[in-house]
Amino acid sequence: MVIARCTQCMKLFTVGPVACYPVVLEAMGRQMVSHRSKEYVDMHYETVGQMQKMLETKNSVYLFSSSGTGFMEAAVKNCVAEKMIVCINGSFGKRFAEVAMANGREAVKVVTELGEPVTPEMLGEALDAHPDAEAVAITHNETSTGLINDLPALTKVVKRHDKLCFVDGVSSMGGTEVKVDEWNIDIMFSSSQKCFGVPPGIGIGSVSRRALDVSASMPNKGWYFDLMVWEKSHAAGKGTPMTSTIPQIAGLNAALLMIDEMGGKQAYFDLYERRNTAIREGIKEYGLDTFPLKGYESPTVSCISAPDGLSGPDIYNAMRGHGFELAQGYGDLKQATFRVGNMGWIPDGYIGEMLDALGRVVS
Ligand SMILES: Cc1ncc(COP(=O)(O)O)c(C=O)c1O
Repeated sequence: MVIARCTQCMKLFTVGPVACYPVVLEAMGRQMVSHRSKEYVDMHYETVGQMQKMLETKNSVYLFSSSGTGFMEAAVKNCVAEKMIVCINGSFGKRFAEVAMANGREAVKVVTELGEPVTPEMLGEALDAHPDAEAVAITHNETSTGLINDLPALTKVVKRHDKLCFVDGVSSMGGTEVKVDEWNIDIMFSSSQKCFGVPPGIGIGSVSRRALDVSASMPNKGWYFDLMVWEKSHAAGKGTPMTSTIPQIAGLNAALLMIDEMGGKQAYFDLYERRNTAIREGIKEYGLDTFPLKGYESPTVSCISAPDGLSGPDIYNAMRGHGFELAQGYGDLKQATFRVGNMGWIPDGYIGEMLDALGRVVS
């Protein structure tokens, strides 16, 4: 009851889980079906087809019963025997390297200053220095610093060196353009609780034939995240190999249908851009600015530097007092910043109200 009370009164500008679209909540509230029933299987493959359209890919799409991090683990266990390169410009890049090392793989880290992008030159140098690396991991949108990397430019470098390419698109997929086939991305993953406005519970990812071929001969990769196990069920028309997170998948299906009805993915990206611009322009009125290097600001998460005399947590807590749940700064930026997400269900009018409250807090 406490949770129900909070979420009803707080207006969410979180960075995930975000507020869910009403059509999503309605779809999730329906009675259960078996994950082996025709009803489920039809919904599963419709959702997979919608995701392939969103990602512009012919690759298989799996819906893991895990959060997005499950896909990091799967990428490492299935596709890297010894060594990979990990691009790091914040906490989630760091996590990818931790996942690799926890699985006994060597992670060569390409690390930037916080708020700065990984450049094609930096990645090229690392690949030249480590020709035996099997794969490269890139965080598309680094949620912790509110920074978006230039993914098409980075994936070109990976392709030139003929390595497997893994992309963490947890806070970009669905919120901005991703072209999996054109950009040669072998594993591209996200979570349900970000741009799609669905509760947590699904790791959504596309997997290339090349990644599957590498997985086929990889020893000791476990079972739950074995991509061959997932491909077998997918190709056999069974959906998931184990019990599916049916309510979340119904919610994702409804969200993707809603996006179609809005005019398709570009219309949805445009909506996100309008929200993001309104927030970034609005904070300027109060003398505030975003943290990352100009030109690399995230289209889904604004990481804002706290003004003199106030810490990020001060602002976060004061905004709660006004009925707005923002997000605290993350990791090393906890004190110096706060974050405002523009993902999921944000009704018209909320951004103006949130900015008015922010003005009162910082003035
Ligand atoms: C960029 C990025 N990667 C990975 C994750 C982890 O995702 P999950 O919590 O769904 O495992 C997050 C979560 O915020 C994220 O923002």
